[in-house]
Amino acid sequence: MTQVNAEFAGRAAVVSGGASGIGAAVTRRLLAGGARVAVLDYAADSLTAFAASVPEHQENLVTTAVDVSDSAAVDAAVADFAGQAGRLDIVVANAGIGGAGGVAEIEDEDWRSVQSVVLDGVFHLCRAALPHLVADGGSIVTTSSISGLAGDRRMAAYAAAKGAVINLTRSMAVDYGRRGVRVNSVAPGPVATPILRPTLDNDTSIEETYAQRIPLGRIAQPEEIADAICFLASDRASFINGVILPVDGGLTAWTAQPDLIGVMGIPEQFVRDSGV
Ligand SMILES: NC(=O)c1ccc[n+]([C@@H]2O[C@H](COP(=O)([O-])OP(=O)(O)OC[C@H]3O[C@@H](n4cnc5c(N)ncnc54)[C@H](O)[C@@H]3O)[C@@H](O)[C@H]2O)c1
Repeated sequence: MTQVNAEFAGRAAVVSGGASGIGAAVTRRLLAGGARVAVLDYAADSLTAFAASVPEHQENLVTTAVDVSDSAAVDAAVADFAGQAGRLDIVVANAGIGGAGGVAEIEDEDWRSVQSVVLDGVFHLCRAALPHLVADGGSIVTTSSISGLAGDRRMAAYAAAKGAVINLTRSMAVDYGRRGVRVNSVAPGPVATPILRPTLDNDTSIEETYAQRIPLGRIAQPEEIADAICFLASDRASFINGVILPVDGGLTAWTAQPDLIGVMGIPEQFVRDSGV
C-alpha cells in the first residue's frame, strides 16, 4: 500500500490482535498514515505473514508475539516499544476470541479463557500504556462488539466480556480525559474476518440472514471498521471521548420486530408510497 497521507506521521501506535482481520486493517492504515506501529499478537505465523504483506513499511513495523492475557508479557512489550519509539500516542486494544454457549453450557475454563483475552487483555494493554499516553497525550480505541450492547443467543461469555469492555472504555474516558487521553470504542456488527469465517462457511444461510437483518443489506469488510477506529484515534476526533460507536450497517438501530404493515391495518396506499 502506498502512503496516502501523513495523518499519523511521527506517531507511535500499539495494536493488539493486529496480525489479522480488523487489527491488520487498522495497522495497514496507521502505517500508510506514517505511524510507527507495534503489533502484539499471539499468533506468530500470522505476525510473520502480516509483516511479509507490508514490505514497504518494514522500518515502521514491530511485531511481537504476545498473549494479551499475560500481563507481564504485555507490560514488557509496551515498555520495549515505547522505549524504542521514544513515545506512545495511540493504542488499539483489539485482540479477541469468540466463545459459544448459554450460561448452563459453559465450562469454567472456557468462561475464564474468554474473559482473560477479551476483557483482561484490554485491561492489561491499557494499564501498561496509560502512563506513556498521559506523558505524551494520546488516544485509546477498544474494539468491543454489538454483542456488548445487547444480548445474543448462546454467546453469554463473549457478550459479558464485551459489555465489560464497553464500560471499562467509559471508565477510562472519565478517569483520563483531564490528563489528555481520549478513550473510545468501536462496536462492530458482523465483519468478514477469520473469527467469523468458520461460522459463515459452516452454514451458508447465515450470511443471507445477516443480509436480511442488516439495514445496509450485508456484513462489513474489516477496512470499514478500521476506518472508524482510525478516525477515533486521530486528531480529527479531538473532542470525542467516551463514545461507543456501533459500526454495524444499522443492525442495532432495529428492534427486530417483524414488519407490522397489514396486521396494524395500515392502508395499502401508504405501503406503495413509502418506497420501502
Ligand atoms: N469479525 C466480527 O464479526 C467481529 C464483530 C464484533 C467484534 N469483533 C471483535 O473485533 C476484534 C478483532 O477480531 P477480528 O474479527 O479481526 O478477528 P481475527 O480473528 O481476524 O483477529 C483477531 C486477532 O486477535 C489475535 N488474538 C486472539 N487472542 C489473542 C491473545 N490472547 N493475545 C494476542 N492476540 C490474540 C488473533 O491471533 C488474531 O490475529 C475482536 O476483539 C473481536 O471480538 C469482531
